[in-house]
Formats: sequence, structure tokens, C-alpha cells
Amino acid sequence: MAAHPVQALGEAIGSVGVDPRAYQLSSLFQGANDGPAKTAAKITGVRGPGKRVDDSNYFTSNEGIPFPDGAHSKTIGGMPVASDIHLFQKQQHFNRSKNLERMVHPCGSGAFGYFETTKDVTAYCKADFLKGIGLKTPVFTRFSTVTLGREFPDLARNPRGFAIKFYTGEGNYDIVGLNFPVFFCRDPIQGPDVIRSQYRNPQNFLLDHNSLFDLLANTPEGNHAGMMFFSDHGTPQGWRHNHGYGCHTFKWVNKDGKFVYIKYHFLANHGQKQFTADEATRLSGEDPDYSKRDLWRAIENGEEITWTAHVQIMQPEEADPDNLGFDPFDVTKVWPKSKFPVSIFIYQCRHFA
Ligand code: HEM
Repeated sequence: MAAHPVQALGEAIGSVGVDPRAYQLSSLFQGANDGPAKTAAKITGVRGPGKRVDDSNYFTSNEGIPFPDGAHSKTIGGMPVASDIHLFQKQQHFNRSKNLERMVHPCGSGAFGYFETTKDVTAYCKADFLKGIGLKTPVFTRFSTVTLGREFPDLARNPRGFAIKFYTGEGNYDIVGLNFPVFFCRDPIQGPDVIRSQYRNPQNFLLDHNSLFDLLANTPEGNHAGMMFFSDHGTPQGWRHNHGYGCHTFKWVNKDGKFVYIKYHFLANHGQKQFTADEATRLSGEDPDYSKRDLWRAIENGEEITWTAHVQIMQPEEADPDNLGFDPFDVTKVWPKSKFPVSIFIYQCRHFA
């Protein structure tokens, strides 16, 4: 048995002996109810089952008082009475238990896993989690549709969110990406318009592609993303047959303070697969939870789900828009692969829980 849950977690994912700072102490694998240490202890089997079980003999009220009977109210002559605090608290709790939906990306699901550094990139980046071959960092990846509601079919036409949280020794590193390498607008002030153009028409509460075409017609830089939206990239086969892109240009800084610009590409090792419009429409009716179910089933079946991360690297002196012919920090643009190859294999993300 390991001395500390964080160390035990490292052992569980096979990274014994590497720098323990790569395992963040404060918010590792945080569950809804468990603190990080407890969750890590469960996952690694140090304490309790690896999966959460309902191990309680009784329900309690919000104040921790055991329910005398969770299925029957207190009654007088068969009539429930207003003095039954458990009855009232159960009803109140239920009535208010639905969270306000996120404005975007409400419909999604994800998995824990790890990120393995397999190539020495210390010449480019001093980040702790990239500093040794074989170093494994816990990650959580969440996939989502963007503008469709939480209960909307999750294989409907939409971009897909691809968000990775790395629990590194230096703090959490978040990449919020998409399955498109580009976004719909260049100027962030147009962000809300992009989202609203894909939302329901307030006149009749119906989805209305006219508003998206209206935006695209007036925002030429958004047409690359628009083409992807209306191609089969808009209807991928579940969450896992998707590549993920960081979209934005990131900066890597090495220990000497020298920096490069990079773009992240997470390429699905099991291939990129998409539905046709007809298949997605039919399946939306047959299984509106297709993407969530596909990921869940694959993990429960023990299938390995992996992406390989690549980066494109641009030296600062190459980042001159006049020479390039485009602005390398414009999120509506991709970097040409002929000039900035997507060939640098650096690590793998495996999802196991
Ligand atoms: C101005 C443009 C944008 C606006 C206004 C915007 C707004 C938002 C908001 C409000 C959320 C929900 C936060 C929450 O409730 O927790 C969100 C989540 C997200 N955004 Fe954006 N966003 C924009 C651009 C982008 C871009 C360019 C990308 C891709 C690089 C992106 C990727 C994501 C992802 C993946 C999530 C979900 C993260 C998760 O799964 O938890 N967004 N965005």
C-alpha cells in the first residue's frame, strides 16, 4: 500500500519513480462528493472500491437526520401531514435539483485518463508535465455539442467541444478545443452572435439555419468553420472518433526564456469517423444519447481509447503576417501543413475511467 493517495495514483498509472510533483495535490480527480484525496484513493484501490457504490443503509435529510421511511409520508388517517419535515424536504430537494443549463456546451460527457510524454520537448517547453519521457499526467477530457441543449440528441449537427484538463504538478492546464481546427469568428465581440446564430429563433423557438447563413454571409472569415459545420465533420460518430484541435495559437517557453508558437492537434488513434446527414438524423431518433453511450460502453468493455498529440511549431521570427500572408494568431485560420508540419509525435492520452 502506498504512503499517499497521490503517490498511489502514480503507481496505478505506471509512472513510479518519476517526479512526484507531476501529481497535483489540490484538485486531483475531484468527484462530485468526494475530496480529491478520497477519490484518488478509490481509483487506485488504496481505500474502498475503484468504482463508487451506494454503501449506505439509509437516506438522510440535508441535516444528516436519517429518514424514518423514505417511501411513506407521516399520515393521520391516511392523509399526509404538514408536520412531516422529511416529506417537505424530499419534495423541495427534487423541485430544485435541476441546475441551470450552461449557455454553451451543456450536452456532453467525459472520462479520466492519462497523458504520457513520449518525446523530449524540453528544448521548446519547460512545463513540468512535459519534462520527461514516460512521465504520465492524469487528465480529464470532456466532449460536448456546443449550441444544442443538454437533452438534445448528442449526435446532431454541431461542432464538438474537446476540452482537456491536465492535473499537472504546477497546477491545472486546460485546453478547450473543438473537433474543428478553426472557429467561426476572428473578433471575440462576435462570439455571442455566433452562438445566437445557431440557437433557436426567438419568434417561434425553432432551430433556424437561416440565422447561421446570415452570420456566415456577413462574416467571410467564418466560412471555413461554416463549411465544416455543414459537412460530415458536423456529425461525427460519437465522441471518440474525433480529432481534437486546440484551435488557438499557444506559446511554449523553455527554461532559457526562449519561446515558440504552437498549435495542438490530438489525432484519434481509432480514426476519424462520421455519419452522413441521413444517418445522423435517423440515429438521433433511435438513440439521442448515442455519443455518451458509445463512450461509456467502450470504456466499460475495456476498449482502449487513445489520441496522439502533435504540435505544429512556429518560430517567433516566422510569425510575421506580411511574410506569411495570414495572421498566425487568427483563430479562423489554420497553419499550412506544408510549412509547419503536423509531424511531431509527443504523447498519448489514454482514457480508462
Ligand atoms: C467569443 C467566443 C466564445 C464565447 C463567448 C464562448 C463562451 C463559452 C461559455 C460561456 C462556455 C461555458 C462555460 C461554463 O458554463 O462552464 C464555453 C465553454 C467551452 N468553450 Fe467557449 N466560447 C467562445 C469561444 C470558444 C472557442 C474559440 C473554443 C475552441 C477553441 C471554445 C471551446 C469551448 C469548450 C470546449 C467549452 C466546454 C468546456 C467543457 O467541456 O467544460 N470556445 N464557452
